[in-house]
Amino acid sequence: MAKIIAIANQKGGVGKTTTAINLSACLAAAERRTLLLDLDPQGNASIGLGLEKDKFAQLNIYHALIGEESIENCLYRTELPGLDICPSDNNLIGAEIELVSAFAREGKLKAALEPIMDKYDYIIIDCAPSLNILAVNALNAAHSFLVPMQTEFLAMEGLSQLLNTVRLIRASLNPQLELEGILLTMYDSRNNLSKLVAQDLMNHFKDDIMKSIIPRNVKLSECPSHGKPIILYDIASKGSEAYLSLAKEVILKTEGKKEAAALAKPAMKAVLPDAPPRIPSFDDYEIQQ
Ligand SMILES: Nc1ncnc2c1ncn2[C@@H]1O[C@H](COP(=O)(O)OP(=O)(O)O)[C@@H](O)[C@H]1O
Ligand SMILES: [Mg+2]
Repeated sequence: MAKIIAIANQKGGVGKTTTAINLSACLAAAERRTLLLDLDPQGNASIGLGLEKDKFAQLNIYHALIGEESIENCLYRTELPGLDICPSDNNLIGAEIELVSAFAREGKLKAALEPIMDKYDYIIIDCAPSLNILAVNALNAAHSFLVPMQTEFLAMEGLSQLLNTVRLIRASLNPQLELEGILLTMYDSRNNLSKLVAQDLMNHFKDDIMKSIIPRNVKLSECPSHGKPIILYDIASKGSEAYLSLAKEVILKTEGKKEAAALAKPAMKAVLPDAPPRIPSFDDYEIQQ
Protein backbone atom coordinates (compact mmCIF):
# COMPACT_ATOMS: atom_id res chain seq x y z
CA MET A 1 0.00 0.00 0.00
CA ALA A 2 1.22 3.47 -0.85
CA LYS A 3 2.66 5.79 1.75
CA ILE A 4 1.15 9.23 1.25
CA ILE A 5 3.38 12.19 2.10
CA ALA A 6 1.95 15.72 1.98
CA ILE A 7 4.47 18.48 1.28
CA ALA A 8 3.00 21.32 3.30
CA ASN A 9 3.79 24.84 4.47
CA GLN A 10 1.30 27.63 3.99
CA LYS A 11 4.13 30.01 3.25
CA GLY A 12 4.73 30.40 -0.49
CA GLY A 13 8.12 30.15 -2.17
CA VAL A 14 9.72 27.85 0.40
CA GLY A 15 10.46 24.96 -1.98
CA LYS A 16 7.31 22.81 -1.71
CA THR A 17 6.86 22.24 -5.43
CA THR A 18 10.60 21.82 -6.04
CA THR A 19 10.65 19.21 -3.28
CA ALA A 20 7.50 17.45 -4.47
CA ILE A 21 8.81 17.12 -8.03
CA ASN A 22 12.33 16.07 -7.14
CA LEU A 23 11.58 13.81 -4.19
CA SER A 24 9.04 12.01 -6.40
CA ALA A 25 11.55 11.69 -9.25
CA CYS A 26 14.27 10.34 -6.95
CA LEU A 27 11.88 7.81 -5.40
CA ALA A 28 10.99 6.64 -8.92
CA ALA A 29 14.70 6.43 -9.79
CA ALA A 30 15.05 4.15 -6.78
CA GLU A 31 12.44 1.91 -8.43
CA ARG A 32 9.60 2.94 -6.16
CA ARG A 33 6.29 3.26 -8.01
CA THR A 34 5.54 6.90 -7.36
CA LEU A 35 2.65 9.30 -7.97
CA LEU A 36 3.07 13.04 -7.73
CA LEU A 37 -0.29 14.56 -6.91
CA ASP A 38 -0.55 18.25 -7.70
CA LEU A 39 -3.01 19.82 -5.26
CA ASP A 40 -2.17 23.43 -6.00
CA PRO A 41 -4.49 25.29 -8.42
CA GLN A 42 -1.36 27.03 -9.76
CA GLY A 43 -0.38 23.68 -11.30
CA ASN A 44 3.35 24.39 -10.97
CA ALA A 45 4.25 20.75 -10.38
CA SER A 46 2.30 19.65 -13.46
CA ILE A 47 3.97 22.21 -15.71
CA GLY A 48 7.36 21.65 -14.04
CA LEU A 49 7.20 17.99 -15.04
CA GLY A 50 6.61 18.92 -18.66
CA LEU A 51 2.84 18.35 -18.98
CA GLU A 52 1.00 20.53 -21.46
CA LYS A 53 -1.94 22.39 -19.94
CA ASP A 54 -4.55 21.71 -22.63
CA LYS A 55 -3.77 17.96 -22.60
CA PHE A 56 -5.04 17.52 -19.03
CA ALA A 57 -7.67 20.27 -18.78
CA GLN A 58 -10.53 17.74 -18.97
CA LEU A 59 -9.06 15.07 -16.70
CA ASN A 60 -7.20 16.15 -13.60
CA ILE A 61 -7.37 16.08 -9.82
CA TYR A 62 -10.33 18.47 -9.83
CA HIS A 63 -12.50 15.94 -11.66
CA ALA A 64 -11.46 13.15 -9.29
CA LEU A 65 -12.07 15.30 -6.20
CA ILE A 66 -15.59 16.32 -7.11
CA GLY A 67 -16.39 12.73 -8.03
CA GLU A 68 -16.89 13.37 -11.72
CA GLU A 69 -14.16 10.92 -12.78
CA SER A 70 -12.35 8.00 -11.23
CA ILE A 71 -8.81 9.02 -10.33
CA GLU A 72 -7.43 6.24 -12.54
CA ASN A 73 -8.56 8.28 -15.55
CA CYS A 74 -6.72 11.36 -14.27
CA LEU A 75 -3.19 9.89 -14.12
CA TYR A 76 -0.45 10.59 -16.65
CA ARG A 77 2.92 8.99 -17.26
CA THR A 78 6.00 11.19 -17.13
CA GLU A 79 9.31 10.96 -18.96
CA LEU A 80 10.75 9.14 -15.95
CA PRO A 81 9.74 5.46 -15.77
CA GLY A 82 7.90 4.72 -12.54
CA LEU A 83 6.75 8.30 -12.03
CA ASP A 84 3.14 9.23 -12.74
CA ILE A 85 1.42 12.53 -12.10
CA CYS A 86 -2.12 13.53 -11.26
CA PRO A 87 -2.09 17.13 -12.50
CA SER A 88 -4.05 20.19 -11.48
CA ASP A 89 -4.98 23.53 -12.97
CA ASN A 90 -6.95 26.57 -11.86
CA ASN A 91 -10.20 24.59 -11.99
CA LEU A 92 -9.16 23.42 -8.57
CA ILE A 93 -10.10 26.82 -7.17
CA GLY A 94 -13.66 25.78 -8.04
CA ALA A 95 -13.28 22.60 -5.99
CA GLU A 96 -12.33 24.67 -2.93
CA ILE A 97 -15.71 26.38 -3.20
CA GLU A 98 -17.71 23.31 -4.21
CA LEU A 99 -16.29 21.25 -1.35
CA VAL A 100 -17.30 23.77 1.30
CA SER A 101 -20.89 22.60 1.18
CA ALA A 102 -20.20 18.95 0.33
CA PHE A 103 -20.98 16.05 2.63
CA ALA A 104 -17.85 14.57 4.29
CA ARG A 105 -15.87 17.24 2.51
CA GLU A 106 -12.62 16.61 4.46
CA GLY A 107 -12.48 13.03 3.22
CA LYS A 108 -12.91 13.57 -0.52
CA LEU A 109 -9.25 13.16 -1.45
CA LYS A 110 -8.75 10.14 0.79
CA ALA A 111 -11.76 8.47 -0.83
CA ALA A 112 -10.61 9.42 -4.34
CA LEU A 113 -7.18 7.85 -3.73
CA GLU A 114 -8.56 4.58 -2.37
CA PRO A 115 -8.66 2.69 -5.74
CA ILE A 116 -4.98 3.41 -6.50
CA MET A 117 -3.42 2.77 -3.10
CA ASP A 118 -1.99 -0.56 -4.26
CA LYS A 119 -0.74 0.80 -7.55
CA TYR A 120 1.97 2.92 -5.90
CA ASP A 121 4.64 2.72 -3.22
CA TYR A 122 4.64 6.47 -2.62
CA ILE A 123 2.14 9.25 -3.28
CA ILE A 124 3.62 12.72 -2.85
CA ILE A 125 1.14 15.60 -2.55
CA ASP A 126 2.24 19.10 -3.53
CA CYS A 127 0.04 21.37 -1.40
CA ALA A 128 -0.91 24.97 -2.15
CA PRO A 129 0.40 27.73 0.11
CA SER A 130 -2.73 27.91 2.25
CA LEU A 131 -4.57 26.04 4.99
CA ASN A 132 -7.88 25.70 3.21
CA ILE A 133 -10.15 22.71 2.63
CA LEU A 134 -7.71 21.28 0.06
CA ALA A 135 -4.89 21.29 2.62
CA VAL A 136 -7.19 19.64 5.16
CA ASN A 137 -8.02 16.98 2.55
CA ALA A 138 -4.30 16.40 1.94
CA LEU A 139 -3.47 16.10 5.65
CA ASN A 140 -6.47 13.85 6.20
CA ALA A 141 -5.41 11.49 3.39
CA ALA A 142 -1.68 11.53 4.29
CA HIS A 143 0.34 9.18 6.46
CA SER A 144 2.91 11.91 7.05
CA PHE A 145 3.73 15.49 6.18
CA LEU A 146 7.04 17.03 5.19
CA VAL A 147 7.58 20.75 5.83
CA PRO A 148 10.09 22.55 3.61
CA MET A 149 11.52 25.62 5.34
CA GLN A 150 13.66 28.18 3.65
CA THR A 151 16.77 29.00 5.67
CA GLU A 152 16.00 32.70 5.68
CA PHE A 153 14.71 35.37 8.03
CA LEU A 154 11.17 34.62 9.28
CA ALA A 155 11.49 30.96 8.31
CA MET A 156 9.15 29.92 11.11
CA GLU A 157 6.50 32.49 10.29
CA GLY A 158 3.11 30.80 10.08
CA LEU A 159 4.45 27.44 11.20
CA SER A 160 2.41 27.49 14.39
CA GLN A 161 -0.79 27.71 12.31
CA LEU A 162 0.24 24.63 10.30
CA LEU A 163 1.08 22.69 13.47
CA ASN A 164 -2.21 23.81 14.99
CA THR A 165 -4.12 22.56 11.95
CA VAL A 166 -2.23 19.26 12.21
CA ARG A 167 -3.20 19.02 15.89
CA LEU A 168 -6.87 19.50 15.00
CA ILE A 169 -6.70 16.97 12.17
CA ARG A 170 -5.04 14.42 14.45
CA ALA A 171 -7.71 14.98 17.08
CA SER A 172 -10.66 14.66 14.74
CA LEU A 173 -9.86 12.97 11.43
CA ASN A 174 -6.46 11.34 11.16
CA PRO A 175 -4.86 10.38 14.49
CA GLN A 176 -2.02 8.53 12.72
CA LEU A 177 -0.72 11.58 10.86
CA GLU A 178 3.05 11.77 11.46
CA LEU A 179 5.62 14.46 10.90
CA GLU A 180 7.98 13.12 8.22
CA GLY A 181 10.33 15.95 9.05
CA ILE A 182 11.26 19.56 8.52
CA LEU A 183 13.35 20.02 5.41
CA LEU A 184 15.81 22.90 5.24
CA THR A 185 15.76 24.33 1.71
CA MET A 186 17.72 26.90 -0.29
CA TYR A 187 20.58 26.61 2.17
CA ASP A 188 23.55 28.77 1.26
CA SER A 189 26.69 27.89 3.20
CA ARG A 190 28.38 31.15 2.11
CA ASN A 191 25.61 33.24 3.59
CA ASN A 192 25.92 33.84 7.33
CA LEU A 193 22.22 34.46 7.82
CA SER A 194 21.35 31.18 6.08
CA LYS A 195 23.80 29.39 8.41
CA LEU A 196 22.42 31.11 11.50
CA VAL A 197 18.81 30.34 10.60
CA ALA A 198 19.68 26.69 9.85
CA GLN A 199 21.44 26.39 13.22
CA ASP A 200 18.48 28.03 14.95
CA LEU A 201 16.01 25.64 13.33
CA MET A 202 18.21 22.64 14.22
CA ASN A 203 18.38 23.77 17.87
CA HIS A 204 14.66 24.30 17.94
CA PHE A 205 13.39 21.19 16.12
CA LYS A 206 16.31 18.83 16.81
CA ASP A 207 15.52 15.30 15.52
CA ASP A 208 12.55 16.54 13.52
CA ILE A 209 14.93 18.15 11.01
CA MET A 210 15.68 15.91 8.02
CA LYS A 211 19.38 15.08 7.78
CA SER A 212 19.39 15.90 4.08
CA ILE A 213 19.66 19.63 3.48
CA ILE A 214 18.72 21.17 0.13
CA PRO A 215 21.27 23.77 -0.97
CA ARG A 216 20.44 26.83 -3.01
CA ASN A 217 21.26 25.55 -6.47
CA VAL A 218 20.55 27.38 -9.70
CA LYS A 219 20.01 24.09 -11.58
CA LEU A 220 17.04 23.39 -9.32
CA SER A 221 15.41 26.65 -10.35
CA GLU A 222 16.17 26.05 -14.04
CA CYS A 223 14.86 22.53 -14.49
CA PRO A 224 11.07 23.25 -14.26
CA SER A 225 11.27 25.49 -17.34
CA HIS A 226 12.71 22.47 -19.19
CA GLY A 227 9.88 20.28 -17.86
CA LYS A 228 12.34 17.96 -16.15
CA PRO A 229 13.16 16.88 -12.62
CA ILE A 230 16.71 17.68 -11.58
CA ILE A 231 18.00 14.11 -12.06
CA LEU A 232 17.10 14.25 -15.76
CA TYR A 233 18.34 17.82 -16.13
CA ASP A 234 21.69 17.67 -14.36
CA ILE A 235 22.43 14.48 -12.49
CA ALA A 236 25.83 15.77 -11.35
CA SER A 237 24.43 18.90 -9.67
CA LYS A 238 24.33 19.56 -5.94
CA GLY A 239 20.55 19.69 -6.25
CA SER A 240 20.42 16.12 -7.60
CA GLU A 241 22.72 14.96 -4.83
CA ALA A 242 20.55 16.56 -2.16
CA TYR A 243 17.22 15.20 -3.43
CA LEU A 244 18.67 11.70 -3.92
CA SER A 245 19.84 11.91 -0.32
CA LEU A 246 16.36 13.01 0.78
CA ALA A 247 14.71 10.14 -1.11
CA LYS A 248 17.09 7.69 0.49
CA GLU A 249 16.33 9.12 3.91
CA VAL A 250 12.57 8.78 3.31
CA ILE A 251 12.98 5.21 2.06
CA LEU A 252 15.14 4.30 5.06
CA LYS A 253 12.61 5.76 7.43
CA THR A 254 9.68 4.08 5.70
CA GLU A 255 11.06 0.72 4.67
CA GLY A 256 14.07 0.19 6.94
CA LYS A 257 17.73 -0.44 6.17
CA LYS A 258 17.53 -3.68 4.19
CA GLU A 259 15.33 -2.33 1.42
CA ALA A 260 17.26 0.91 1.14
CA ALA A 261 20.47 -1.09 0.68
CA ALA A 262 18.87 -2.79 -2.30
CA LEU A 263 18.77 0.43 -4.30
CA ALA A 264 20.66 -0.87 -7.26
CA LYS A 265 23.01 1.00 -9.60
CA PRO A 266 21.44 -0.63 -12.68
CA ALA A 267 18.14 0.89 -11.71
CA MET A 268 19.57 4.37 -11.96
CA LYS A 269 21.24 3.58 -15.29
CA ALA A 270 18.01 2.25 -16.72
CA VAL A 271 16.12 5.44 -16.06
CA LEU A 272 18.91 7.78 -17.07
CA PRO A 273 19.94 6.64 -20.55
CA ASP A 274 21.36 9.99 -21.61
CA ALA A 275 23.22 10.74 -18.44
CA PRO A 276 26.93 11.62 -18.47
CA PRO A 277 29.43 8.72 -18.58
CA ARG A 278 29.93 8.52 -14.88
CA ILE A 279 26.47 8.11 -13.45
CA PRO A 280 26.46 8.65 -9.71
CA SER A 281 24.56 5.76 -8.24
CA PHE A 282 21.96 6.08 -5.57
CA ASP A 283 24.32 4.24 -3.23
CA ASP A 284 26.98 6.92 -3.65
CA TYR A 285 24.80 9.25 -1.67
CA GLU A 286 25.30 8.96 1.99
CA ILE A 287 22.61 10.79 3.84
CA GLN A 288 24.19 14.12 4.65
CA GLN A 289 25.02 14.59 8.31
N1 LIG B 1 17.05 24.74 -3.63
C1 LIG B 1 16.74 25.72 -4.48
N2 LIG B 1 17.71 26.45 -5.08
C2 LIG B 1 17.39 27.46 -5.92
N3 LIG B 1 16.15 27.81 -6.23
C3 LIG B 1 15.12 27.13 -5.66
C4 LIG B 1 15.37 26.05 -4.76
N4 LIG B 1 14.18 25.56 -4.35
C5 LIG B 1 13.24 26.29 -4.96
N5 LIG B 1 13.79 27.24 -5.74
C6 LIG B 1 13.08 28.26 -6.55
O1 LIG B 1 12.38 29.11 -5.64
C7 LIG B 1 11.08 29.40 -6.13
C8 LIG B 1 10.01 28.89 -5.16
O2 LIG B 1 10.11 27.48 -5.06
P1 LIG B 1 8.83 26.53 -5.10
O3 LIG B 1 9.33 25.13 -5.01
O4 LIG B 1 7.96 26.87 -6.25
O5 LIG B 1 8.14 26.96 -3.74
P2 LIG B 1 6.63 26.74 -3.22
O6 LIG B 1 6.05 25.58 -3.94
O7 LIG B 1 6.77 26.51 -1.74
O8 LIG B 1 5.91 28.03 -3.49
C9 LIG B 1 10.99 28.75 -7.50
O9 LIG B 1 11.33 29.70 -8.46
C10 LIG B 1 12.04 27.65 -7.45
O10 LIG B 1 12.56 27.36 -8.73
MG1 LIG C 1 4.25 25.44 -5.06
